[in-house]
Amino acid sequence: MKLIGVLGSLNVDLMATVPRFQEPGETITGTGFYTFTGGKGGNQAVASVKLGIPTMMIGKLGADQNGELYRKTLLELGIEQHTVQTVEHVPTGAAMIEVDPSGENRIVVVPGANYAVDRKQVDQTMHELLSCDVILMQLEIPMDTVEYAARRLHGEGKMVILNPAPAQPLSDRLLRSCTYITPNETELRILSGMDTNTDNQIKTAAQTLLDKGAQAVVVTLGSRGAILVTPHNTVHVPAFDVQAIDTTGAGDAFVAGFAIALIEGKSPVEAIRFANAAAALATTAVGAQSGMPTREQVLELMMTKTCS
Ligand code: RIB
Repeated sequence: MKLIGVLGSLNVDLMATVPRFQEPGETITGTGFYTFTGGKGGNQAVASVKLGIPTMMIGKLGADQNGELYRKTLLELGIEQHTVQTVEHVPTGAAMIEVDPSGENRIVVVPGANYAVDRKQVDQTMHELLSCDVILMQLEIPMDTVEYAARRLHGEGKMVILNPAPAQPLSDRLLRSCTYITPNETELRILSGMDTNTDNQIKTAAQTLLDKGAQAVVVTLGSRGAILVTPHNTVHVPAFDVQAIDTTGAGDAFVAGFAIALIEGKSPVEAIRFANAAAALATTAVGAQSGMPTREQVLELMMTKTCS
C-alpha cells in the first residue's frame, strides 16, 4: 500500500469573492465570504487522500478554534494526523484570500503555528516520514526545517517533491536534495532571477536550477499546462480546458496528482498529464479544498476532454 507524506502548512482560509481587485486605499464590496481549511500543505494532503492514496500530514496547529476545526477536517477525511502537533500561545496559520470573477486570486498568509514546525518535529516523525513513498513539502514552514528534512530524507533515498511556494531563494544544497521542484512561472522567475515570459525563457530559467543541482523541474503554467525540464529533455504537457471559478489550490492539486502518478509507476510526462487534470478540476469550485477531485473524476476528464 502506497503512502504519501506531507510536511507543511495548515491554514484557515478567509476568502472573499470580489468583482475586481481593489486599488491601494480603496474599499470595495465583496460578493461572498467563506471560511475554509487550507494551507498549501493541508491542501496537498486533502488532494492526495481524495485521489485515493493513504496520506499522512506532518505540521502544527494552534490551540484555538481554527486548530480544532482543522483537526476535525483531517479526521473526517481520514488523513493520518497523529503527526500534527498542537502548539500553545501561537494561533493556527491563516490566509486572507480574494478571488475575482476570472478565478484569479490574491493571498496574504500569516504563518502562526506553521513557523513552529521545526527540526525537532522532523526528528520526532522521521520514522513515519521514512514509511512514506514520497514526501511533499512547500515553503510555508521555516526554510531551515525544509532544508533539514529534505537533506535527511534525500540521504535515506526518499523521493522528495518541493513546491517552492511562496517563492524564496533556495540553497544549492536544498536543490540537490529534491527529486522534483515544481514552481509556477512567477516562482521560477524569483528563484532564477530571470524572465519567464516565453517557453524558451522558462527552459533557460529552469536550466539554472538544474545547473545548481536540481534533478528535474516541473514548471506549472496555469491554463497552459506544465513544462518538464530535465538534463535530458524539455516537454510541454498541455492543460485540460475547464470553466475555472477559483484557481486557489490548483497548484496543490497538481503536486498531489503528480506525486501519486509517479509512485504508481507513471513516467514524469504521464504524471504531469494526470496532475494537469487534477489541477483543472480543482479550479471548478470556490475554496482550495472544495474542488479537490476524486480519482474517478480525474480519469473521466482525461478520457473525455481534449487538452488546450
Ligand atoms: O495554495 C493555496 C493556499 O495558499 C491557500 O489555501 C492558502 O492557505 C495559502 O497557503
